[in-house]
This record gives sequence, structure tokens and C-alpha cells, in this order.
Amino acid sequence: NRNLFGIKDLSVEDIMAIFEKAKEFKALSRSKIKKNSLLRGKTVVNLFFENSTRTRSSFEIAGKRLGADVINMSVSTSSIKKGESLIDTAKTLDAMKADLYVIRHSQAGAPKMFSKYVSGQVINAGDGVHEHPTQALLDGFTIYETGKKFKDLNVAIIGDILHSRVARSDIYLLKKLGANVTLVGPATLIPDEFKSFGVEIENNLDNILGKMDVINLLRIQLERQGDSLFPSLDEYHNFFGLNDERLKKMKEDAIIMHPGPMNRGVEISFDVADCKQQVILDQVENGVAIRMALLALIIEGSE
Ligand code: CP
Repeated sequence: NRNLFGIKDLSVEDIMAIFEKAKEFKALSRSKIKKNSLLRGKTVVNLFFENSTRTRSSFEIAGKRLGADVINMSVSTSSIKKGESLIDTAKTLDAMKADLYVIRHSQAGAPKMFSKYVSGQVINAGDGVHEHPTQALLDGFTIYETGKKFKDLNVAIIGDILHSRVARSDIYLLKKLGANVTLVGPATLIPDEFKSFGVEIENNLDNILGKMDVINLLRIQLERQGDSLFPSLDEYHNFFGLNDERLKKMKEDAIIMHPGPMNRGVEISFDVADCKQQVILDQVENGVAIRMALLALIIEGSE
């Protein structure tokens, strides 16, 4: 099978093949007739147990641009609300003969478990604090498109690393491609286990800003913090927020990334979120191209 559960499972060759395919589909998405019929007759089911704007809508657009039938199963109005389990949901959808399932779930490992009960392929659209592989691929593709070389590229990932599946997937991808990764944030949000990922850890953003080629900002995941938040959001903004003053300390050709959703005024100031060094909406556009590439490669490859 050709499931995608995490970046850990991909080789450098796999990643580069996905980037090349995404280039082709980005061009298609920018053309007058944005679609083809590559996946005509195929069925893709979007199954999101957690909220999403970008991932869910870009998978839907990606599937439709390739001619597939895309079903968005609304978890809040499904029989899951009547107590049906994830396993019985999988068996039920399998009986309907879908070709691919896109799954976001609050529990790490849920997409893998789901895959054991369906004959179609599964793509992980974010599982707990485990991985968000399609985000890392679109982040990597966005860097690749700038023409920057990954080897020895200095990338800072700043923010709530502890609760971030994006951080984990980005680290795996960037390290595989040869980049240097520095994690930046308060000690409360960067656990020691990350030292084993081959990254640098820095608690003072101002010490490293001037050396970085890529600044990747993450939001504080308030929904995963438990009872207390230390530092507070105001303190976080003062110590780690990217503002005008810090922007001036950055290399002129450094790029600012953010997977979204953004909390303006916390990890990034209102003005910097729209400055000319940010590539945040390029990441969103690339998200469609990367997801088209994955749907095409996974569905075609599984036949
Ligand atoms: N980056 C990301 O996963 O955004 P959504 O939660 O809106 O899908």
C-alpha cells in the first residue's frame, strides 16, 4: 500500500519526486482550465475530527482539480456522535469502496489504525502531536521554489514546539534534506527529547535571528495547553513575537513562514504578517499543488 502517515517514512528521492509533481500541478492550477481527469472515477473521503481551514479545503480542491469525487464527511453530524467507533466508521466507509481517506484526528496513530480496516489508501492530515506530513511537504516545497539550497540552510522553528505536529514533521523533512534546524522558544514549550532530533535549541530569539535563512513561526496551541500557560501570551509576544524591530535584524533575503492559523499580535505582529519577506500565502497555494501531487502519486501508485 501507499499510505502516508509521516515524513519519517519518506526517502529524499520520494520527497523530490513529490516536489517535481507539485510543480506540474501548480502550473495546472494557474492555467485557465484548472483541472484534468487523472483521477476520474476515484473517490476521496475527507474525515476531519479536528477543525481545519487550509488542509481540508485544499484536499477538496486538489481532488476536484484531478477529477476525483470528493466527499467531506462532517464528523459533527455523523454517527460518530451517536457512539460509533473509528473502527466501525472505517469498516462502513470501506463498504462504500472509497479509494483514499484523508484523516485528521486528535489522537496520534489514528490514521494508521484506520488504515487497517479499509482497502483504500490513507493520508494523515495531522494526528495529535505526532505528524502533519502534508504541511511539511508544502513547507519544503515553498523553500525549494525560492531556489535556496537545503544543504546547510539555517532554519529556525519558533514557538510551541511541544504541542506541534508541524514542528516534528518539518524537523524530519528539513534534516533529511540537509538543513540546520534551530528550535526557538521558552523552555516550557521545548522539551529535552528534541535534543535527540539533531537540532539546536535556543531560548533567546534575538541571539539567532541574524543568522537564519528561514524563519518558521508557529502559533501557541491554546487548545492543548491544559490549565496554565507560561509564559502568558503578552510575555510570549515580547520575548518571541516577530515584530518590526526584529524584522530589521533578519537577513534581507530571509523568508518568513507560518503554517497557519496565525494569531496576529502573538507570534507575529500585525504588520510583519503582511511584510514583503513573508511567504505565508505562497504556502497556502503550494498546499493545493502538494496535495494534488500526493493524491495522484498515491492513488496511481497503488494500482
Ligand atoms: N496548517 C494547517 O494545518 O491549517 P488548518 O488547521 O487550517 O488545516
